[in-house]
This record gives sequence, structure tokens and C-alpha cells, in this order.
Amino acid sequence: MELIIQPDQERAAHLVARIVAHELRMKPDLVLGLATGLTMQNVYRLLVQMHREEGLDFSRCRTFNLDEYVGLARNDPRSYRFYMIERLFKHVNVDFGNTHLPNGLAKNLDEECAQYEKSIADAGGIDLQLLGIGKAGHIGFNEPLSALRSRTRVKALSPATVEQNAPLFGGPDKVPRRAITMGVGSILDCRRCVMLACGADKAGVVAKAVEGPITSMISATALQLHARCVVIVDEAAGKLLKEKKYYRWIFENEPEWEPFR
Ligand code: GLP
Repeated sequence: MELIIQPDQERAAHLVARIVAHELRMKPDLVLGLATGLTMQNVYRLLVQMHREEGLDFSRCRTFNLDEYVGLARNDPRSYRFYMIERLFKHVNVDFGNTHLPNGLAKNLDEECAQYEKSIADAGGIDLQLLGIGKAGHIGFNEPLSALRSRTRVKALSPATVEQNAPLFGGPDKVPRRAITMGVGSILDCRRCVMLACGADKAGVVAKAVEGPITSMISATALQLHARCVVIVDEAAGKLLKEKKYYRWIFENEPEWEPFR
């Protein structure tokens, strides 16, 4: 794992967008794993800008999102499908047929989960997975106690996650109780992971995820097992990290980061 601290939220998102652009230019048919949430909105805005101003080409890109609520229609403004269309898909030249999210309205949800895993495998696996982190330390909707080898499945949302998402639904009682999410094991199979966390309210959980022991109570800690994972934070989200000096030294000296400094 590597940890990169950027001065502010905008520069942190910019670094993530540049990593995506770099991978997409190297491999135009990139299999890109996507995440939702407020933090990721900045990344998508910057990718749209790169598409418009620099011709960043999504025409052969395949995408797979981490998760989707159970029970929401694709065109429901609160669904993650809707979020992705509004924030990214409709503004770039991605082929909508190449964009994938779990179907939260599937009659047989277990079958849908197995099919989602199969679609990822058929695409050759995910090259680059973007991740946010929930306040409870979850990636996707892998709530506390999610098995570190779990695959795509239906999960009940924790009270903390319901609370976090309540404003988007007009109150906690309106938040769906379940979601389909890629498992921790599915995420660990991705060739490269980039996690973005911004803001002071993520500082505690970022410190636990990066410097704490690996535990299924905080699914983001499983990323410590990943061979190629970078966590990008702004100063506020990084403020409780103990080894900041060391992380900065690595970023300054690691040849891989030369084009990104
Ligand atoms: C939800 C999503 C996660 C996301 C997290 C953080 O729980 N399922 O994929 O990373 O929220 O969201 P935000 O960026 O809004 O803090």
C-alpha cells in the first residue's frame, strides 16, 4: 500500500483523475471499477473535463460499479446507475452497453450477484478499481464483519450507513435496507486499487484503515493485503496518520510517481 497526501480535496481528486487517464491511455479497453459517493463526484467532473479538453477517450472502456441499492429502479434519481449517468456516462463517449452496475430490481438477487461476478470475469477482471471509504470504514457496501474473502452479494446496510445516506433519501426511514455489493475478495482481485478519502470526518477511519490491524470490522483494512493499492487523501483526511513524513518521502522518491508529482 502507498499513501499520498495532497494539499486539498481538489488536488487529491485531480491525482486520481490523472491516474485513470494514464491507465486509459495505456489501455484503451481498460476495465474500470467505479465508486459512487460525494467524494467521487470531483473525480468524475475532472474526467469529463479531460474528455472535453484533451479528448480522453472512453469509447472502448468497460466499467463495473461496486454496488447498487436493492429495490430502486435504474432511472430512480437516488440509484447509483442514475448517479453514474448524470456525473460521468452521459458526458463522455463511453458505450452505455459497456457500463455495468448490479441490478437491484432483479427477481433473483443471488443469481444477479453470481452473474455480476461472471461478467467481471468475462471482461478479463478489473484493471483499476476506484474506491471511497464510508464513515464506518467500509468499501463498497462491505459493512462491519464482511468476510475478507466475500464475493458479490446482498448486504444489509448498517445503521451508520443508513444515517450517512439519509439526507439523500429525505430521512433514515426512506433509505433502502439492502444493497448488492462487490465483496472484499472481489475487490482484492482487481489488478490495481485507488482509494480516495477527503475531509476531516474521514480522518479517524483513514488512520485505522491504513495503520490499524486488518479486521473484518473495517473492510478497508483488507486493502493492506493488496499488492498494488494507493490511498490518496487530502490534508484533512490524513491528519491522524502517524507516519505522514514517511509517506511523503516515499511519494517524493518512488520512480512510479515521477509523472504525477
Ligand atoms: C457509500 C458507498 C461507498 C462510498 C461511501 C463514501 O457507502 N457505497 O462506495 O465510498 O459511501 O461516500 P462519500 O464519498 O459520500 O463519503
